[in-house]
Amino acid sequence: MAARRRSAPEAVHHPVFARYYARFAPAVDERAGIGAHRTELLAPLSGRVVEVGAGSGLNFGRYPDAVREVVAVEPEPLLRRAARDAAARAAVPVSVVPGVAEELPLDSGAFDAAVVSLVLCSVRDPDRALAEIRRVLRPGGRLCFYEHVRAGGTAMALTQRTLDRTVWPHLFGGCHTARDTVAAIGAAGFTEVSLRRLRVPEGGVPTPVSAHVLGSARRP
Ligand SMILES: C[S@@+](CC[C@H](N)C(=O)[O-])C[C@H]1O[C@@H](n2cnc3c(N)ncnc32)[C@H](O)[C@@H]1O
Repeated sequence: MAARRRSAPEAVHHPVFARYYARFAPAVDERAGIGAHRTELLAPLSGRVVEVGAGSGLNFGRYPDAVREVVAVEPEPLLRRAARDAAARAAVPVSVVPGVAEELPLDSGAFDAAVVSLVLCSVRDPDRALAEIRRVLRPGGRLCFYEHVRAGGTAMALTQRTLDRTVWPHLFGGCHTARDTVAAIGAAGFTEVSLRRLRVPEGGVPTPVSAHVLGSARRP
């Protein structure tokens, strides 16, 4: 592993959310079609990959054979334990390490690709996290992202902003619904941003976390 420096490993501690996520996220993935989106996100990857905010490791079983190694960074202790169990079952080699996105404990330029799924909504400082992801990618390396984002409609965007200022982050492990993650990726200096916008789940009444983007961008 390309260890560089240690960030405070227990800086993210959401025991109730973590228990809930580890237990129920697999079923939600299945029902909402998220599993298929994860497979699409990871399919183009190869070489050495860093996954930031890996949670309980729901992506691990979906990495293609062309991936040589995954270093998965997860700061929440309970989720990190679940991720280590998932890593032991994965077909590709996965090591799970403590750390936060804003200060990745990894060497610069060490990875061919980086993965974030449903993480940039939850980090404390998305701009710092993206700067760190950029740092650990080699020139030409790709960031693959699957994130829920700010909604297009005015009423839903207002609802999102209200929720972000009140209950939502407290209920869902620091999650924010109104972040403009695509703009943040561009502002962090990534280029060749390509993405498609999705509604998750596809049918039914939209929720504050229905607007998703799935795509990739390049470190120049
Ligand atoms: C909704 S979960 C998503 C987990 C996983 N990526 C997935 O796709 O299932 C959000 C994750 O972000 C992690 N997280 C929160 N703050 C973080 C930070 N500052 N740095 C890295 N990960 C963070 C949480 O611990 C949690 O694992």
